[in-house]
Amino acid sequence: MNNVLSIILAAGQGTRMKSDKVKVLHHVGGRPMLHYVVDNVAGFSTGTVIIIGRQGELVRESLEGKANLKFVVQEQQLGTGHAVMQAREEIAGHNGPVLVLYGDTPLLREETLRELIKTHQEKKAACTVLTTLVLDPTGYGRIIRDEAGYIQRIVEERDASPEEKRIQEINSGVCCFESSLLLEALAHIDNKNAQGEYYLTDTIAYLNGQGKKVFPYLIDDFYEITGINDRINLASAERIIRNRINKKHMENGVTIIDPATTYIDSEVEIGQDTIIYPFTYIEGKSIIGRNSIIGTHCRIKDSEIGEAVNVLDHSIILESKIGARSNVGPFAHIRPGCLLETETKAGSFVELKNSTVGKGTKIPHLSYVGDAIIGQDTNIGAGTIFANYDGERKYQTLVGNKVFIGSNTTLISPVKIGDGGRTGAGSVVTRDVPEGTTVVGVPARIFVRKER
Ligand code: UD1
Ligand code: MG
Repeated sequence: MNNVLSIILAAGQGTRMKSDKVKVLHHVGGRPMLHYVVDNVAGFSTGTVIIIGRQGELVRESLEGKANLKFVVQEQQLGTGHAVMQAREEIAGHNGPVLVLYGDTPLLREETLRELIKTHQEKKAACTVLTTLVLDPTGYGRIIRDEAGYIQRIVEERDASPEEKRIQEINSGVCCFESSLLLEALAHIDNKNAQGEYYLTDTIAYLNGQGKKVFPYLIDDFYEITGINDRINLASAERIIRNRINKKHMENGVTIIDPATTYIDSEVEIGQDTIIYPFTYIEGKSIIGRNSIIGTHCRIKDSEIGEAVNVLDHSIILESKIGARSNVGPFAHIRPGCLLETETKAGSFVELKNSTVGKGTKIPHLSYVGDAIIGQDTNIGAGTIFANYDGERKYQTLVGNKVFIGSNTTLISPVKIGDGGRTGAGSVVTRDVPEGTTVVGVPARIFVRKER
């Protein structure tokens, strides 16, 4: 299966979201809902056309970098049939199945779409419609079948008779057409209905009239086809997507102590035997190695955590990299741009920003480290402050290997501490400290020179 043209309708307003942002760009599981739909069809589509309208430019930007996408603008939203008509050229240039789906159905699974197309091809159908049975079909198009079980037509809620409204089989909105028949049918629909719209669903009755067969492909899972219309739907979809993500990680050997309170974005990767404690968020494109522990109430965003790392409770790690066998937290705040090499420690109430911490270096308690490069096997005593800001500009601090910074030292940057340098407790370091030298006091003066 590799000759499918996919058309994703994403031009609608999404009025019920009550948002300045177009609906399909609202996030589910950490990324825009439209991206799920685009990724679902990418595996089998030769091309994907996205029908955009309101905030179309933002939609296009959000998908930058994804292959084989074409954007077509639907200036006025005159109905689903009218939307598909905007891709007339692409349909005409394609010979094979055309899959039509909506940008607001992130719960649809790729396997379902593949099965739908497979059925469509096996049955040599003119069109195959993904349908499901629901207890309350209000709002959906109803499937009218003939005696043989084929779909005769689809009637929209507002055009349905009282008997038709009782039908519980509904149109999901996902259908697969033969390209030439779709074009032909689109040319024959009108907007003479309760909503004054060009309904894509009217193509079904037309095809029937031409003696063509329209098959239903009935699935059990109603949730898969539910579109997101408001923030309440958004929250339900979020829960379902989070469950799926957590399940995938657990199947891969990650322990999630309480999946109900663990929030992992869809692109996160986690190694085997890692344990995630409750109330933790792992966001963006984060990667966590094997055998690590992520404590409770942590937030990790767009970061890379190595193997056997211990992130203790209440720590925040943003856009940073933590090397293998390191310890972070509890209550650590690792701000963007940090690189902690292997076997490092950023302990309780430590804040780091835009800094590199060399292998084996420890910052165990109550420190602020900003714009610093610290070497290996150095110890930064409790309460040390890297004073990187003079009120106007930020400066860098360089700390060498095997340095010992005494408790409550303040390093007034720009300043450099040479390898093996030491500062006494409470020193305020305003000048560079040469290699192997100990400084003390306020301002810090040389106490012991390096032996030669
Ligand atoms: C549609 C179906 C209905 C089905 C339901 C499933 C039609 C006529 N009706 O109804 O049978 O049960 O979906 O959810 O197809 N869109 C555009 N341009 C337009 C109009 C819509 O891009 O001019 C997009 C919307 O952004 C949305 C999708 O198409 O993603 C569906 O449109 P919507 O107005 O929500 O259709 P429904 O009335 O829900
Ligand atoms: Mg809808």
